[in-house]
Amino acid sequence: MPVPSTIIGTEHGAPQNLTPSPDLGFAHRFEPATKPGAPFLLLLHGTGGDENSLIPMGRAIAPGAALLSPRGQVVEQGMARFFRRHAEGDFDQEDLEARTKDLARFVSLASEQYAIPAGKLVAAGFSNGANMAASLILRFPETLAGAALMRGMVPFTPKTPLDINRRPVLILSGVDDPIVGTDEVAELANMFRAANAEVTLHWETAGHTLSQGDVLMAFDWMRKFFALPRPGSVR
Ligand code: MLT
Repeated sequence: MPVPSTIIGTEHGAPQNLTPSPDLGFAHRFEPATKPGAPFLLLLHGTGGDENSLIPMGRAIAPGAALLSPRGQVVEQGMARFFRRHAEGDFDQEDLEARTKDLARFVSLASEQYAIPAGKLVAAGFSNGANMAASLILRFPETLAGAALMRGMVPFTPKTPLDINRRPVLILSGVDDPIVGTDEVAELANMFRAANAEVTLHWETAGHTLSQGDVLMAFDWMRKFFALPRPGSVR
């Protein structure tokens, strides 16, 4: 699904810090933190988005945070995605696994380049980006401190039990989402509970498009689990 421009907002004009950096493997945008001690966000856009799509949402859910936003490398009918699919909701599992590995490598290289402390990145993904964020935290938990999954699906069925060691996972689902059914959301939440995640599941009165309520929920969740340090405190 293309990213809705209302809430998430695609930015037109003056993209500063646009860094198409093939050496890190992904074209991406990085915005340094504007508040000391602010969190670090990994923004993963939906189908048809790009590295600019989620920047306004990132600023809204974690004001002052550093934002790392790669562009998905698969192009489907002119739209960027993070992995291939055969049809809506029918994912190419080999491709997903390989591209999750590529993204984990990007995160590690970008963390070095931009001085992001190990294990501090929190993913916020929408739709296809949420599915990639879920795959990343399940397969490479050490790359992320947590993940906000907005309109996410079950990306794959783990073959062996997984343990993501109480990392917070927010699942933001739309009660009227025509793409992600309520059963699939329940399955996603159960999969993360089984993987020892600290799951927060929120149902928004919305469809696949994000609403202001989603942004507020994500903001509260960020504050609860990844709060700014108090002045003088050590992280
Ligand atoms: C999308 O259109 O992005 C789907 O709903 C999710 C996906 O294909 O990963």
